[in-house]
Amino acid sequence: MPGRYEEVFQKIQDKFRRTAVFAAESGIIPYKSENGRWIASPFDGNGWWTGGFWPALMWQLYAAGREECFLKEARRVEALLTDEFRVFRHLNHDVGFMYLLSCGADFKLTSDEQARTDTLHAASLLMGRFNPVGYIRAWNNPSQVGYAIIDCMMNLSLLFWASRQTGDPRFARVATIHADTALKEFLRPDGSVSHIIEFDPGTGRRVREHPGQGYALGTQWSRGQAWGLYGFTLAYMNARDGRYLEAAQRIAANFIAHIRPDGLTDCDFCQPDTEKRIDNIAGAIAACGLMELHGLTGVDAYAESARRLVDGLLDRCCDWSLDRCGMLTHCTASYHDDGAGRHTNITYGDYFLTEALAKLNGTDPMLWL
Ligand code: GLY
Repeated sequence: MPGRYEEVFQKIQDKFRRTAVFAAESGIIPYKSENGRWIASPFDGNGWWTGGFWPALMWQLYAAGREECFLKEARRVEALLTDEFRVFRHLNHDVGFMYLLSCGADFKLTSDEQARTDTLHAASLLMGRFNPVGYIRAWNNPSQVGYAIIDCMMNLSLLFWASRQTGDPRFARVATIHADTALKEFLRPDGSVSHIIEFDPGTGRRVREHPGQGYALGTQWSRGQAWGLYGFTLAYMNARDGRYLEAAQRIAANFIAHIRPDGLTDCDFCQPDTEKRIDNIAGAIAACGLMELHGLTGVDAYAESARRLVDGLLDRCCDWSLDRCGMLTHCTASYHDDGAGRHTNITYGDYFLTEALAKLNGTDPMLWL
């Protein structure tokens, strides 16, 4: 008899088999659901950093049952994403999220050569953002030449992948230089991580920390904590440097200490009681990282915490209606609303919850490696 997580995975397949039709009919890359319908990103069109999560979700579902409809929908969106190579100006360090999880997943699951080429193209773009003073530049704004962000730890996997594919160590070397900088400059003594650090682009000297998507300067934006947790775990899986594993475990201990009694995740672990916000994407990402940490260390507390997070989402925050797009609710893009919404559905929440369930079921194709 299937267990709870297997039954839920079947519900996810049913939901997205149906709502992928709505996406294809509209011709967009689903960014989030509004009034039960997919909408495209209001920022930078198909070049917005989240575009890879929808095809990633399709590839997760394809990996589970080899249903052609998921492959077809993933490839429809991959074509839109690779068109963005030509536009170029919107692409930033998040080409890891965008292309490893779309074209990279396609190559992993189908051995398609063009998908491999497109993934290598993205890796070269990420390499091009490296500043040899020690970091990968995050964004394109001319006033932010020296900015690096914790989220980039997730994008490093694209570089490690490219070195394995090509036999050229430069990609992995850049990834480890950036990871070492993150270890030194982002990881705080209490096991939390900063979101944005500005460096002098000429010397690499730390200039200052900036407030990002969390409550305020110096607080703990929970999704940033989750990016750090999973990102350092992936860095360890790629580079086998024990310092990255230790960092991931410290970040995990801090994250676990902040899981709410109902299993949901506050948007910022330091947010005021008077202005509480939830970001369930953070919980879903952290559950994925914790499952990998459990696999690496055998520490049961990691798997138990991952299950607490996933159970909280399944018990309270999933929309299973087949006719309404969007599954995970109560996702918050930014503590201080940046226009993307608060307590809403956003597709990367749907993606990471699906990945977490695949890990719990032992069927995850591990698209990050
Ligand atoms: N990487 C940007 C975010 O997590 O919102």
